[in-house]
Amino acid sequence: MDLNKHVIEEFRANNGKVGGMFEGASLILLNTTGARTGRPHTTPTVYLRDGNRYLVFGSNAGGPRHPHWYHNLLANPHLTVELGTEDGAVKPFAARAVPLEGEERDRYWELQCSRDPGFRAYAEQTERTVPVVALHFLDLGANNPERNRMIGRQLVQHHSELRAELRHVRAEIDRVLARKHPADLPEPEDRPGADLASQLRRHCLTFCYALRTHHTREDGSFTAFEKQFPHLAPAIARLRREHEAVERGLAEFEALVNGDGGELPADPADAEKLRAELDRVVAGLEEHFAYEEQHLLPALEAPLR
Ligand SMILES: [Fe+2]
Ligand SMILES: [Fe+2]
Repeated sequence: MDLNKHVIEEFRANNGKVGGMFEGASLILLNTTGARTGRPHTTPTVYLRDGNRYLVFGSNAGGPRHPHWYHNLLANPHLTVELGTEDGAVKPFAARAVPLEGEERDRYWELQCSRDPGFRAYAEQTERTVPVVALHFLDLGANNPERNRMIGRQLVQHHSELRAELRHVRAEIDRVLARKHPADLPEPEDRPGADLASQLRRHCLTFCYALRTHHTREDGSFTAFEKQFPHLAPAIARLRREHEAVERGLAEFEALVNGDGGELPADPADAEKLRAELDRVVAGLEEHFAYEEQHLLPALEAPLR
């Protein structure tokens, strides 16, 4: 895990170039959504460029199981790919994953093995057929009003889902707070609110994951939006900064949710703290959603030029 983290940091700092065991390899970062957890996953992966698509291989270094990212993409084919660019900095791009099958899969697998025999060696260590997945970059730069409108609709829908999740989390915290008075405590006295606490923790984390995934995906779209709608560049720059600010707030909130003693937030005082921290996180979030909708939707909903 630490190795992964190190590679990711080096990748982002060096425009996609990484030393050590990946020296000279063509790497990208896959940002997928956890199939079971909904949690964002970042994985460095070797790729093979094939025209407009990028092919990735689930060799998992010869391990007995398919890599997590492969299961994640089967459950949710939308991802954000980070790659080095001519501008000298890593940029995120929205993409869609399509597993290759049959003859096409075999052909590209052979091509990859002939380019890098290490892959053939991996395949020999496992019974699995190594999956080959094509990543199609969403070409938002093309004048495709239909696709743009779809993206606009998704943006609004995700915002309303996130708002609903947020209301839910707040209601849970309020339920914990309502138990300040012993008369409101129906549970056994030894573990007051333990059940609520674990529920609350789960909902908090679900919300954090969902918001983070939404922003990762948006960051991927922004790169293309800037090209397609140059007049939006200043607004997008602001939205990116807001994403970073929200991320910092989320990290603090999560640290609080995950607590030290594992008892948080059964204690109303801790719930109070949690509530204050959550309020801080979302203080700017509503404004961010509104600003985003206000600036992006008119461009995305524009009729055919
Ligand atoms: Fe956003
Ligand atoms: Fe958004």
